[in-house]
Amino acid sequence: MTIKKVLTITLLTLIIASSGCAYRHYLGMHGPTIRNSPETHTGVTEDSQCLECHNPDDPTDAPPTNHPGFKGCLKCHNGA
Ligand code: HEC
Ligand code: HEC
Repeated sequence: MTIKKVLTITLLTLIIASSGCAYRHYLGMHGPTIRNSPETHTGVTEDSQCLECHNPDDPTDAPPTNHPGFKGCLKCHNGA
């Protein structure tokens, strides 16, 4: 194998790997997981509870969501 081929393959692998990571978030529609902050989110199961803290119209110290109309918050935010 020529050095040029090796470089091309390395580059391609890097591009595929990095874009895979960046876009997985959106393609899989998986949001950041609430498991990063279990002490805040233990026992929370209802969308209405989520919105008590994350409603952009009623700010708290929690980061506001840009999609308060979504249903089933935990489908996307309970990821591993
Ligand atoms: C279809 C999947 C999906 C659903 C359903 C969903 N989210 Fe999200 N959420 C995402 C994704 C993807 C992101 C990251 C990209 C973004 O900010 O739009 C995100 C980002 C967020 C953030 C921002 C976190 C940060 O660090 O700033 C909050 C807060 C949030 N969501 C709350 C909610 C709440 C509350 C609900 C229910 C009303 C909900 N989400 C429903 C996919 C979803
Ligand atoms: C009692 C208020 C409260 C409730 C209820 C609540 N959150 Fe949060 N959430 C927070 C706070 C505060 C943070 C910021 C991180 C922290 O300090 O724990 C946060 C962080 C987040 C993040 C960002 C995680 C990250 O790592 O970027 C998401 C996504 C999120 N919450 C979604 C939800 C969903 C979905 C629900 C409902 C199942 C919910 N939250 C219920 C207060 C709350």
